[in-house]
Amino acid sequence: MANDILKGKRGIIFGALDEHSIAWKVAERAAAEGAIFTLTNAPIAMRMGKINDLAAKCNAEIIPADATSIEDLENLVNGSMDKLGGKLDFVLHSIGMSPNVRKSKPYTGLNYDFFQKTIDVSALSFHKVMQTTMKLDAMNEWSSILALTYIAAQRTFPDYSDMAEAKSMLESIARSFGYHYGTAKHVRVNTISQSPTRTTAGSGVKGFDDFIDFADKMSPLGNATAEDCANYCISMFSDLTRMVTMQNLMHDGGFSSTGITAKMLGKD
Ligand SMILES: NC(=O)c1ccc[n+]([C@@H]2O[C@H](COP(=O)([O-])OP(=O)(O)OC[C@H]3O[C@@H](n4cnc5c(N)ncnc54)[C@H](O)[C@@H]3O)[C@@H](O)[C@H]2O)c1
Repeated sequence: MANDILKGKRGIIFGALDEHSIAWKVAERAAAEGAIFTLTNAPIAMRMGKINDLAAKCNAEIIPADATSIEDLENLVNGSMDKLGGKLDFVLHSIGMSPNVRKSKPYTGLNYDFFQKTIDVSALSFHKVMQTTMKLDAMNEWSSILALTYIAAQRTFPDYSDMAEAKSMLESIARSFGYHYGTAKHVRVNTISQSPTRTTAGSGVKGFDDFIDFADKMSPLGNATAEDCANYCISMFSDLTRMVTMQNLMHDGGFSSTGITAKMLGKD
């Protein structure tokens, strides 16, 4: 169902690791909708993931960048404008990582060096990306910048651990930078709060299978898939949503507005 709604648009997509990654699905949909873009990921993910397969499929170049490094980001943004032949119309930040979650540290026993790494990779990197694109004047007027988040920013999901703080900060950065980028350049900045989704990052959270099943039962439409999320991202990159900015957009099948469901009570 491609309609060329991103025809002529240029972008950068962060975070495609393998075919389960949300960013992978966004890249496939963006290419189908006529966009051209560069793909990027942390240098270590280049070795572990399958990004080369995606690049070949989407006819995209890969520029490795650790999203916490300003030097890498400058190289990425300059390189992308160079390779794509102009300024950018969209950026997807699809990045998350907590060493505390990875190493199964309990929330009440966090390692604070790890905590700072969680914040740097999962939240501050979003600010760094935008500060870099702004400094290099890399975004076109009315372009669209998106990051992916999770409802643990608003409600407690105990095993999400310090990623909850990172997501709260990420959403706040979208609002704050959205103000400055909107007034300076009509660039819009939003976060999409996605249902739990089976990916490498998602499955790293303890008890993920119970978690995804619970969310599915608690959502009138069921969980949104990675493909659904990609469709939403494409609409947010398109000109059809040009007055939407500084929002945290719930993309969760209704989960965030639901108190209880018949399915949850076993009465459906
Ligand atoms: N999977 C879920 O249940 C779910 C739900 C809501 C939101 N999200 C969010 O969606 C986004 C994408 O995650 P995903 O579920 O597709 O998992 P994923 O594991 O496929 O993607 C996470 C990506 O972050 C990248 N990354 C980690 N450290 C980096 C660094 N320093 N520099 C650059 N890239 C780095 C990884 O290499 C990986 O590609 C994340 O922000 C995640 O928190 C996921």
